[in-house]
Amino acid sequence: MKSFSYALALTAMLTGANASWKGFNNQATLSNGACKAQSDWENDFNKLKSLPGGYSAMRVYAASDCNTLANAVPAAVATGGKILVGIWTEDSNHYNTEKQALLSAVQKYGFDWVAAVSVGSEDLYRGDTTASALAQQVNDVRGMLSTVNGYNNSVKVGHVDTWTAWTNGQSTDVIKACDFIGTDGYPYYQTVNANSIDNASNLFWQSVQAVNDTVHSAGSNAPVWITETGWPTSGSTENQAVPSVPNAQRYWSEVACSAFGKVDTFWYSLQDYNANPSFGVLDSNGNPIYNLTC
Ligand SMILES: *[C@@H]1O[C@H](CO)[C@@H](O)[C@H](O)[C@H]1NC(C)=O
Ligand SMILES: *[C@@H]1O[C@H](CO)[C@@H](O)[C@H](O)[C@H]1NC(C)=O
Ligand SMILES: *[C@@H]1O[C@H](CO)[C@@H](O)[C@H](O)[C@H]1NC(C)=O
Repeated sequence: MKSFSYALALTAMLTGANASWKGFNNQATLSNGACKAQSDWENDFNKLKSLPGGYSAMRVYAASDCNTLANAVPAAVATGGKILVGIWTEDSNHYNTEKQALLSAVQKYGFDWVAAVSVGSEDLYRGDTTASALAQQVNDVRGMLSTVNGYNNSVKVGHVDTWTAWTNGQSTDVIKACDFIGTDGYPYYQTVNANSIDNASNLFWQSVQAVNDTVHSAGSNAPVWITETGWPTSGSTENQAVPSVPNAQRYWSEVACSAFGKVDTFWYSLQDYNANPSFGVLDSNGNPIYNLTC
């Protein structure tokens, strides 16, 4: 009986693993600041596929800025890649332009390229809006998508925010509106606990657990996705957190390798140019800075 239930559990796990997103946060600009063209996005999707572990998905932060969806969606369609779309929610003109860019993309290319849609990114953390205003916008975007041919409710619309913004007791309204909860957590930036690399994995998983508990307390069954985490290879020391290639490698081995395939995860980040601190896993030539094998 025991081996039978293990087999069932394994099947369930593998099914879950197939369904879980494995991706990276990705920026819309090249090292010279120019917006990526369709061919640049295709290169990114092909690069993702070729990395050890084979990734198919990326998160982008905007729909209209840099013509992101107009250029990235045909690249996704051409390569079989998937996109977690970001929609900026402030101000109302920008929000409407963002919605229009998403609408045009799904009208033209359908929904097969959509990993999900995040309405907003860290807006609650920044204090730019309220949970109830965000909830209305999540419902607004879902309503817009539902009018498009080919839509069904497998298209998840949610929101991304920091784990502290999710768990501070002010986020219930938006939790209830979301089909998924994207949590951003960086032990590197944490000041309340000893945040050395020795403790980083613990701190990170505690933060995910805290978000999950908050979501359940709000009466939601929405899955919690990891939408940003990572460790910098360079930059300033924060509290006890020291950026370095060996520490970033260790955080990858301890956190990325236990997250990918089990929890829907978008690592931060694929590539950084002149960023300080720098979280990118690829150098400026597109080569891994450390070993990404799990
Ligand atoms: C729902 O839409 C997705 C994305 O286009 C598609 O892959 C899936 O087959 C659809 N499911 C149903 C039941 O039609
Ligand atoms: C790890 O964090 C916990 C709090 O979560 C703290 O009590 C402990 O001292 C830290 N350990 C190290 C090695 O930094
Ligand atoms: C959240 O909790 C549910 C229910 O216990 C569990 O199935 C799921 O794996 C948890 N998600 C994460 C990301 O920990």
